[in-house]
Amino acid sequence: MNERVLVAEDDLYMLETLQEVLSESGYETVAVADGEEALRLIKRERELLDLVITDMKMPGIKGDELLSAVRDCRAEAPVIVITAFGSVEQAVDMVKAGAFQYITKPFKADELLSAVEQALETSAPLREQARIRREMPVTPAQIIGASRPMRALFDLIGRAAQSSSTVLITGESGTGKELVARSIHELSGRNGLFVPINCSAIPSELIEAELFGHTGQAFTGAKQARPGLFETAEGGTIFLDEIGDLPLGVQPKLLRTLQEGTIRRVGASAEQVVNVRVVAATNRDLEEDVKEGLFREDLYWRLNVIHLHIPALRERPFDIPLLVEHFINKAAELSGRPQLDVLPETLAILTAYSWPGNVRELENAIERAIALARGARLTPDDLPERVSKNGGASAFIARSSGRNLTLREVERDYILEVLRKTGGNKSRAAEQLGLDRKTLYRKLDEYRTEGVSVDL
Ligand SMILES: Nc1ncnc2c1ncn2[C@@H]1O[C@H](COP(=O)(O)OP(=O)(O)OP(=O)(O)O)[C@@H](O)[C@H]1O
Ligand SMILES: [Mg+2]
Repeated sequence: MNERVLVAEDDLYMLETLQEVLSESGYETVAVADGEEALRLIKRERELLDLVITDMKMPGIKGDELLSAVRDCRAEAPVIVITAFGSVEQAVDMVKAGAFQYITKPFKADELLSAVEQALETSAPLREQARIRREMPVTPAQIIGASRPMRALFDLIGRAAQSSSTVLITGESGTGKELVARSIHELSGRNGLFVPINCSAIPSELIEAELFGHTGQAFTGAKQARPGLFETAEGGTIFLDEIGDLPLGVQPKLLRTLQEGTIRRVGASAEQVVNVRVVAATNRDLEEDVKEGLFREDLYWRLNVIHLHIPALRERPFDIPLLVEHFINKAAELSGRPQLDVLPETLAILTAYSWPGNVRELENAIERAIALARGARLTPDDLPERVSKNGGASAFIARSSGRNLTLREVERDYILEVLRKTGGNKSRAAEQLGLDRKTLYRKLDEYRTEGVSVDL
């Protein structure tokens, strides 16, 4: 994307020249010949402007008013002041007041361009931070869950937040890995940014420069130096999502950063120290990737200092009613309409469904149901067909992902389901199942030793 430069200058010939020089070098320019107009533009476009070049004296306004206007609306754009030879002193004052640099008329195109490049490079981390902040949702991460595995996870999140060790988050797609990463950052008290990057979404030849930045001479087309996301995350947390897709060629570089706490921009000879907490996530089996030579073993161990696993939603159906309520609340807040009720049979279907897409799929199903609901209650008809068809009676088959279950598995699933419906009350569950309590306890113990989660 081209940088956007506002040029304010009342000498029209000069204005045109500036504009020409800048656009020939690939910058996008907005030109104004009038101080007040410049002020209006700064207010309106503050999020889009990367740099302001202004004449010091213009009708209707003085350069320093423009400068403070830029500061007032908290634009991260640096300001370059153009001044006549006679008023250098005032220009120096403006630099003291926060302008990036001044240039005296007359000047050569090169002189201007090098000032522009420097100003943009120096302000790049700030502008990048501002961009990420703008795009970040304002509400703090809210993780819902009361099941035993989730409570254990909350405890781990709290402890992980206190340390600065690298964290690896695993879990199926849609289980909330990014949400967990965000909460670790928020609870950590680190005052830098949370900077997420999806390693699978960036072409492999660009990812090194994206992470570590590059110098102006790094490769053809690199017009000017650029900081990477590690620099953007200074003092904060970088979230490396889909870490399994990090190209093998870049893996040693990340390893070095984790070991030494330094980065090296592409094309640079020197390293620089960074203070960034690294949280990575994957829904792949990284250990398997290590065995197959797709992922470096040493990096795997470096990332895996603290391991957080988020269980799939079908392994913690106890959380489903809570999540349903949460998403209904959220929708009501957003739309300003009253909250919908959920019919018990709707909830039963939702709880029995296997949710291959996990919480994300549940969230979408609820959103859709709310949009479709005719009354004040969510009925089974409002649910997506795959959910209403596979919830309830056919849930056993859905949960086994197509394979036929053994009788023992059906028994186990049924017992756990009844246990859930009684809210974990073992006496009541035993009664409904026609078992004595001892037998129920024995069976639950067996399931536990098989690694099946029987706790609600
Ligand atoms: N425990 C939870 N409480 C509330 N919302 C949740 C919870 N878990 C996930 N969500 C919501 O579900 C959606 C998916 O979560 P998120 O993007 O964190 O998943 P993910 O594990 O990163 O998925 P993917 O592997 O596909 O990237 C988000 O809208 C998130 O807010
Ligand atoms: Mg994710």
